[in-house]
Amino acid sequence: MANTSHFQGRSLLSTRDYTRDELNWLIGFAIHLKNLKRRGIPHRYLEGKNIALLFEKTSTRTRSAFTVAANDLGANPEFMGKGDIQLGRKETVRDTALVLGSMFDGLEFRGFKQEHVEELAKYSGVPVWNGLTDKEHPTQMLADFMTIVEEFGSLEGRTLAYCGQGRNNVQNSLMITSAILGVNYVNATPKELAPDPSIVEVAQGFADKSGSTITVTDDPVEAVTDADIIYTNVWAAMGEESQFAERVRIMQPYQVNAKLLNNVRNPDYIVLHCLPAFHNSETEYASDIRDRFGISEMEITDEVFYSEHGRQFQEAENRMHTIKAIMAATLGNLYVPQV
Ligand code: CP
Repeated sequence: MANTSHFQGRSLLSTRDYTRDELNWLIGFAIHLKNLKRRGIPHRYLEGKNIALLFEKTSTRTRSAFTVAANDLGANPEFMGKGDIQLGRKETVRDTALVLGSMFDGLEFRGFKQEHVEELAKYSGVPVWNGLTDKEHPTQMLADFMTIVEEFGSLEGRTLAYCGQGRNNVQNSLMITSAILGVNYVNATPKELAPDPSIVEVAQGFADKSGSTITVTDDPVEAVTDADIIYTNVWAAMGEESQFAERVRIMQPYQVNAKLLNNVRNPDYIVLHCLPAFHNSETEYASDIRDRFGISEMEITDEVFYSEHGRQFQEAENRMHTIKAIMAATLGNLYVPQV
């Protein structure tokens, strides 16, 4: 019998591979799955499937979300950390893909290179879900825009302001996904860290179709004034520690703090952060930064983080519901004839 699921067998390497309608369908499905979970209604669409979780980098949310989502769907998740398999050290990505694809029904990959997740998808023959690479963080996007839908009822006419450094995976994916979904996007970032022009070009192409706007500015006040969603992220990613002194110097005007947020016109604005966040110096990492650079809060202040506007923990929970949605839709033989 012909496969009736619109999503069956597809990978999620970037949100740019999905249409506006498809992303909206996945967000709506994730909201439905959240409701089922709350009510204790089983939704074991992946009964008997085996899922490999490949992590070259550490993770709290993504690993937990894939593990719990797989279990709730009736699948068996198998975690493989950096030290557990040969990937990239003793065995090529292609060979690893061929082996894992012959045993597992789906693969999650978090790693250093976008090319690697693409290669896994090319050679494994099973759906591959990108759990973060140097270029993109697509499963994060599903959770972020699901949270916006939950808070505002729809994405229609909303404006998202990103205050942070402009050249990381989350920024890239946020700009592109906003453009696909018709959300106006404003990037406030120092000129030295302005977004990659190729990402802006891709996003602008989608924005032209959806009718949204893409703005890049170095003025954080201009960015947040008409925003409904204020988004921030760490100033230096893993591997960029040597650049921290410079980042602290140029990023401080972009800190999401009460003074900046006094400029937001919408009283019901929300604040998002993909987490983990450096909002105090209670972690080893942040206390080291405090001792070296004399700052106890970085991209977001403690006051704003725990304010009535913060939705970052709802967003974090939504990682699980959205990852469940993409796994079920692409591997579960659901009846989804057309989107
Ligand atoms: N937001 C995110 O990807 O969190 P983890 O690094 O904890 O997975």
